[in-house]
Amino acid sequence: MESKNVTYHPESLEQKLERYRPDPAIRVVMLPKDTNALGSIFGGVILSQLDLAASEEARIAAGRNVVTKVINEVDFVAPVEVGDWVSFYTRTERVGRTSVTVHVLVVAHRGHRRDELFQVTDAEVVFVAVDEEGKPAEVLREE
Ligand SMILES: CC(C)(COP(=O)(O)OP(=O)(O)OC[C@H]1O[C@@H](n2cnc3c(N)ncnc32)[C@H](O)[C@@H]1OP(=O)(O)O)[C@@H](O)C(=O)NCCC(=O)NCCS
Repeated sequence: MESKNVTYHPESLEQKLERYRPDPAIRVVMLPKDTNALGSIFGGVILSQLDLAASEEARIAAGRNVVTKVINEVDFVAPVEVGDWVSFYTRTERVGRTSVTVHVLVVAHRGHRRDELFQVTDAEVVFVAVDEEGKPAEVLREE
């Protein structure tokens, strides 16, 4: 069989961002209190903000309270430094009967003009809509 010369063009960050809401759900500046023993930003700080940003997106989609059920694979592809401005962009991927799946893209902005942009990580987060007793409840669909 003839072998084909296939060139792979990775998607740019700008192209990825087009699939998310234009405004990030959360944007924060990283401070020394957020660092690990190496002096870079502790992954748990990013995870916490990622969960919070995704939950805001899911709450809007569900029209009621939601709890985090699953955070799928989080691969940190670049370190975040003190002083970086970090944006958490979200989009609703799927609305089920009681669940909402959200995608989050984490982007760091570096430099005085915040014009050095790079991806930190991305993740899929599944939320379950709950009633007042914390039991799964159907999402409230808009009329
Ligand atoms: C979430 C919770 C209320 C009910 O969970 P549950 O018993 O798994 O509920 P169900 O089996 O009825 O599933 C609910 C929905 O989640 C989805 N779901 C459950 N596990 C899933 C998984 N691993 N991946 C994707 N979706 C999942 C189900 O498909 C269902 O969606 P649908 O109704 O849209 O089809 C309960 O597990 C809970 O309270 N967990 C703790 C939540 C929490 O405190 N989070 C913060 C941690 S500190």
